[in-house]
Amino acid sequence: MFSRAVQSTSTIARRGFSSSLRSQRAVAVLGAAGGIGQPMSLLLKADPLVTSLRLYDVRGAPGVAADISHVNTASDVKGFEQANIEQALTGAEVVIIPAGVPRKPGMTRDDLFNTNASIVQTLAESVAKYAPKAHVLIISNPVNSTVPIFAEVLKKAGVFDEKRLFGVTTLDVVRASRFLAEIKKADPKDINVTVVGGHSGVTIVPLLSQTPQGKDVKGEEYKALVKRIQFGGDEVVQAKAGTGSATLSMGYAGARFANSLIRALNGETGVIEPTFVKSPLYADKGVEYFASNVELGTEGVKNILPLGELSAEEQELLNAALAELPKNIQKGEKFVTSA
Ligand code: LMR
Repeated sequence: MFSRAVQSTSTIARRGFSSSLRSQRAVAVLGAAGGIGQPMSLLLKADPLVTSLRLYDVRGAPGVAADISHVNTASDVKGFEQANIEQALTGAEVVIIPAGVPRKPGMTRDDLFNTNASIVQTLAESVAKYAPKAHVLIISNPVNSTVPIFAEVLKKAGVFDEKRLFGVTTLDVVRASRFLAEIKKADPKDINVTVVGGHSGVTIVPLLSQTPQGKDVKGEEYKALVKRIQFGGDEVVQAKAGTGSATLSMGYAGARFANSLIRALNGETGVIEPTFVKSPLYADKGVEYFASNVELGTEGVKNILPLGELSAEEQELLNAALAELPKNIQKGEKFVTSA
């Protein structure tokens, strides 16, 4: 699993931050009975840093919760259906949202906008009301638009804090590590690739030149690797042939990001993850939200790190991402502000 998620509480104590037993970390999953929600909730149940798990969905979550609750880890698990979202959210410190419909072959993530935008907006209204101080992790696609939607709803309710809203782009990081490891015949655990931009096609920009194992990948091999990282989601959509998109690897990625965030909330220092947040890095180019390495801390976003040196190819990829992102972001914002 995640390198540190399964550590014992004594290891945690040795590291000098609160043990899982002393830090009460209540996590709510909205969309818990879905394809991503179920495996992710199972991984969260196996994470000793999660002490209470609230599984919410319009239907089916109590069954998923009953099933997962038999796993013999210390956390308590409860399931909630639509009428009980208030109980699911009240007191939750971390809220993870994979709710929404998945892509079918031939669709882009943006094609999901019409359906998922309203789902995310409705959930944001509940979070604003019942868990306004929660750290919110958005997985629902299109992430480049759903994060701005969520932010606008929170702004309208007067509870927006940019330190506590995250678009989960961890699957791009996971894929980059895995795909590069395949080329290098290495263990992915030794390969860490920073991926910046957004979470869709050309907005996904892997910084391979900053990775020891990636910097000598050149020519056609480089182009193919970048394309595979940018369009890895399509590979799964095609393989699933109309039955959905990545659920298991996305569940893994969501649980991994939640683990990193909780470690930081518990006081561990030096926790850095790429994530799509309100960012000053390219705000002057109209890109208000951007994924880059972010140092996480006890309040959520602690420090948004600059990109560092880019190769000429990466600069070109970044330019393409910066051209695309404002359209995705504004589409999300307008969905709420012009309603
Ligand atoms: C992914 O990256 O696999 C997810 O965002 C799902 C999708 O539609 O590709």
